[in-house]
Amino acid sequence: TYVVTESCIKCKYTDCVDVCPVDAFREGENFLAIDPEECIDCTLCVAECPVDAIFAEEDVPKDQYAFIRLNEELSRQWKCISATKAPLPEADLWSKVKNKLDKLIR
Ligand code: SF4
Ligand code: F3S
Repeated sequence: TYVVTESCIKCKYTDCVDVCPVDAFREGENFLAIDPEECIDCTLCVAECPVDAIFAEEDVPKDQYAFIRLNEELSRQWKCISATKAPLPEADLWSKVKNKLDKLIR
């Protein structure tokens, strides 16, 4: 499966959503998660993300490992998003910020 990581938080550009052939993305208030039971590893979403938030599970950087479980957990609670929409208002500002995990709204 593919995994959305920290840089998505408070950005939520959603460019990733339009290319997903199986509608695997689930939407929270300020983050998206990929449902591991839907993702077919097509890789298309990776290049779409302007903040490089998406990794193959086996390539997730060490400091982002928590997001593997988070995508699994949150995708079960959140609703499907199947079309790209406007990013969050301060996305460009937050795209430069690291260590945003405490800003994640569940
Ligand atoms: Fe969807 Fe493909 Fe990305 Fe998986 S890798 S979430 S199937 S676009
Ligand atoms: Fe997030 Fe990147 Fe998609 S910021 S919503 S993973 S395009």
